[in-house]
Amino acid sequence: MNILLTGGMGYIGSHIALSLLHDKHKVTILDNLSNSNIEVLNSLKFISSEEPNFIKGDVINTELVAKLLKDYKVDAVIHLAGLKAVGESVSRPVMYYKNNILGAVSLLEAMKSCNVLNLVFSSSATVYGIPNFLPISEEHPCKPNNPYGRSKFYIEEILSDLVITDKNWNIISLRYFNPVGSHESGLIGDHPNGIPNNLMPFINQVASGQQTHLKVFGNDYDTPDGTGVRDYIHVEDLSNAHLAALNNIDSNNNYQNYPLNFFNIGTGKGYSVLDVVHAFELANRLDIPYKIYPRRDGDIASSFADPKKANNFLGWKAKQSIDEMCLSSWNFQKNKSQ
Ligand SMILES: NC(=O)c1ccc[n+]([C@@H]2O[C@H](COP(=O)([O-])OP(=O)(O)OC[C@H]3O[C@@H](n4cnc5c(N)ncnc54)[C@H](O)[C@@H]3O)[C@@H](O)[C@H]2O)c1
Repeated sequence: MNILLTGGMGYIGSHIALSLLHDKHKVTILDNLSNSNIEVLNSLKFISSEEPNFIKGDVINTELVAKLLKDYKVDAVIHLAGLKAVGESVSRPVMYYKNNILGAVSLLEAMKSCNVLNLVFSSSATVYGIPNFLPISEEHPCKPNNPYGRSKFYIEEILSDLVITDKNWNIISLRYFNPVGSHESGLIGDHPNGIPNNLMPFINQVASGQQTHLKVFGNDYDTPDGTGVRDYIHVEDLSNAHLAALNNIDSNNNYQNYPLNFFNIGTGKGYSVLDVVHAFELANRLDIPYKIYPRRDGDIASSFADPKKANNFLGWKAKQSIDEMCLSSWNFQKNKSQ
């Protein structure tokens, strides 16, 4: 298939690009490089020996998106372009709503005008907010508690409206849990600027000496060791979920009576912060000093997925272990630090 991959130069998008190229899809990347670097393109070419098309531009530019859909005879779009930092979304909500929601609306407008009606959307477990029950199944109510999560939820609502009014659309929304790890080459990975908000890049920075210690926010949660529990998923497993979604995009199944097809993408296992620290230390034979700090506003005790719906309907299942996540994550950081 000819795929338009928005946000394809970012952490997750670059891994999806490799999976698509590996499966012989033709890939066109649209990215404004607001949170990524042009060097990623060279890594993609080097690893895959393929030449993805790259266009620097913004999804908010509807005319540009329509032109790309036509020029590259696109069959399906995978839409990742978006801003993703929860904390920043709280301090700059309008920027988040504008970029994420207007970006999605612009893309949908362009897709409709070109009759390209197959879409896989990058959603997030943050749409659920503070869980009422665990593991979180798709039956869990959506009550996002920050602007980032709300932007994903509102986009899903728009997508639902679209599939209700026009049955020709084929849309799958994937609700990612906590993507970590890197491609086995160690050439692409998660490389945030400054002090990371997420656990694994922070551990990487401690391991490489950029930070003296890991900040563990809260050890008095109602979890086995008191630290927060999350469902970490290897980014390569996550990429494969997109291939599975594309394979099922036009099956026209109305899974579980919702207008929009949405799926949890996680492993179903929860690991605490200290579990991950210890797994990283063991896998990489390194010490990760840490200190306990007060809880962060908005953090929750535990979140992990019930991934059965994706397992059953998409025929997809996460395969990689927490050790593999820790090994590949450090492999990327080591390469980056050299
Ligand atoms: N990383 C996570 O923990 C996580 C979890 C759940 C969902 N997601 C979603 O997955 C998607 C990708 O996340 P990521 O971690 O790879 O983030 P990322 O920031 O590494 O990648 C996003 C890419 O989109 C580009 N971009 C942003 N706005 C754009 C716009 N208006 N037009 C064109 N390009 C634009 C950025 O330059 C970047 O390359 C995002 O939509 C994010 O919300 C991420």
